[in-house]
Amino acid sequence: MKDLAKLEKEFQERIDRGENIEPKDWMPEKYRKTHIRQISQHAHSEVVGMLPEGNWITRTPSLRRKVALLAKIQDEGGHGLYLYSATETLGISRDELYEQLHSGRAKYSSIFNYPALTWADMGAIGWLVDGAAIINQVMLTRTSYGPYARAMVRICKEESFHQRQGYEILLTLCRGTAVQKAMAQDSLNRWWWPSLMMFGPPDAESTHTEQSMKWKIKRKTNDELRQQFIDNTVPQADILGIKVPDPDLKWNEERGHYDFGEINWDEFWQVVKGHGPCNKERMDARRKAWNNGEWVRDAAIAYADKKAEKNIAKAV
Ligand code: 3HC
Repeated sequence: MKDLAKLEKEFQERIDRGENIEPKDWMPEKYRKTHIRQISQHAHSEVVGMLPEGNWITRTPSLRRKVALLAKIQDEGGHGLYLYSATETLGISRDELYEQLHSGRAKYSSIFNYPALTWADMGAIGWLVDGAAIINQVMLTRTSYGPYARAMVRICKEESFHQRQGYEILLTLCRGTAVQKAMAQDSLNRWWWPSLMMFGPPDAESTHTEQSMKWKIKRKTNDELRQQFIDNTVPQADILGIKVPDPDLKWNEERGHYDFGEINWDEFWQVVKGHGPCNKERMDARRKAWNNGEWVRDAAIAYADKKAEKNIAKAV
């Protein structure tokens, strides 16, 4: 058996060559563990992220908007299942992952602990939240763990539709009455800063970024992705004719980026620690759905067992 140092050295050389690591390959325990952490939290985010939008399915202003919102929410559920499958390749069961979420031990993205108060929020979530997710997820299509990178390719294609349908909702509102445009501006005011927090704490305070960059789990740091999102999104707000709620936002010709104001990291950590506006509501809803769905899971398992018994009887 090769010694650990040799295995770790060969592993890092594979990463440095840009090779994908596959489930059956040797990997440092910490590499495996940090992937279980990140991919499962990504999956939890997709599933919990269905809740704020789910509240608006019965309140959409038209059938067309309802169909688009239903399709988006369905996609998010699929992304969650995809990412749970990617996590299972690392040797943890789905039940364990759900237990980590429902017990509050696992995180999900802070952004989903904010309330969706008006129809314009369906636009802001698509435009800003899915827009931020795309910036992050396009980078993750080149992450070093094979199953995660491949899951991202499929998810990013659907994410682009999510972002576009959100932006179109806001474009419609901004071209509507003064009240509709004010609703869009109010939504941008409430979702702008929490969307910047989605990329995680500043690099200097990030627990995992340095190692994640070394292992090419991340190809860009939290701050780099955040800056990319701001640079992409501010011109889109200009087209809508609504104002980003940051008095310090200013194009910096020298840097070739927007300078922006201080993010309220106390608020971020409060939300991450469970004290956000909707943390309790989101977890209660998840636990209730899990408990109410027990009979469906039992029926599906009973059916699958029966089918397996029949196939074995046929085979002997
Ligand atoms: N919300 C909650 N927790 C967060 C967070 C956020 N926005 N940002 C960071 N954290 C947590 C981290 O999980 C870590 O805690 P842990 O050690 O207990 O896991 C701690 O804060 C320190 O942060 P780091 O920057 O060191 O953590 P990471 O290196 O993991 O970077 C990340 C954070 C950039 C979110 C990274 O985990 C990542 O890229 N995750 C995959 C993408 C993802 O999860 N996106 C969430 C949104 S998915 C979505 O929006 C779906 C779309 O369809 C709408």
